[in-house]
Amino acid sequence: MSKKELIEKINKDLQNNTTQEVIEYFLKNFKNVALSSSLAAEDQVLTDVILKQDKNATIFTLDTGRLHPETYNVMDETNLKYGVKIDVFFPNNEKVQELYQTQGVNGHYESIDNRKNCCGIRKIEPLKRALKGLDVWITGLRAAQSVTRVDMPLVEWDESFNVIKVNPLINWNEKDVWDYIKENRVPYNKLHDQGFPSIGCAPCTRAIKEGEDIRAGRWWWENPEHKECGLHKK
Ligand code: ADX
Ligand code: SF4
Repeated sequence: MSKKELIEKINKDLQNNTTQEVIEYFLKNFKNVALSSSLAAEDQVLTDVILKQDKNATIFTLDTGRLHPETYNVMDETNLKYGVKIDVFFPNNEKVQELYQTQGVNGHYESIDNRKNCCGIRKIEPLKRALKGLDVWITGLRAAQSVTRVDMPLVEWDESFNVIKVNPLINWNEKDVWDYIKENRVPYNKLHDQGFPSIGCAPCTRAIKEGEDIRAGRWWWENPEHKECGLHKK
């Protein structure tokens, strides 16, 4: 069976399954499986679902060095609640020094190239290291989050990182996420209570106003079509 056929088959087999069943399927049938967590609400839901099934499951986060204090707090809270240590991947220190020398502290505001350069060094290169040797990459992506995400399937082959990518919350809406968090007393990033539905790096995320798109606070100075950092290509 080709990769394409395998992905099609898995998508078909799992189309009516619950998120818990989807996670169970991948934990049972693949050896090297990991959830990438930004510590935002969706990833906290998946952390709870996964750790309830396997306390030793791999969860990793990319610490860009520019996260909010609230994000570190929820990381700590999560580690303590579940008795785990989420794996942390940091950027290459020499590359960060070089980035600072060439575009300063906040050069990412000056051009899309600068911004992509920063995301490349602080997120993409560490993500490549995190995904090395993995068979399955689980994410908290939802179709309703963005124009760039509406067509994303439950399971796909990720060409950029050569891994099966699974998006178990792809059909969840915001209410589903918050109902789960409340019902299961899942720790969450306190910025969500301050108008931040989507949380990335501190200098590139702001609170949104009522009626604004949920990703309006991410790289708010750019057009919606550019608002992906390269972690998730279409
Ligand atoms: S982003 O591309 O705009 O930054 P977003 O914040 O919506 O992504 O998160 C989508 C998914 O990408 C998350 O559910 C998570 O799986 C992954 N992700 C995003 N940021 C990180 C991070 N810092 N560390 C680990 N995974 C991340
Ligand atoms: Fe740099 Fe902003 Fe990208 Fe974070 S989101 S890596 S600070 S450009």
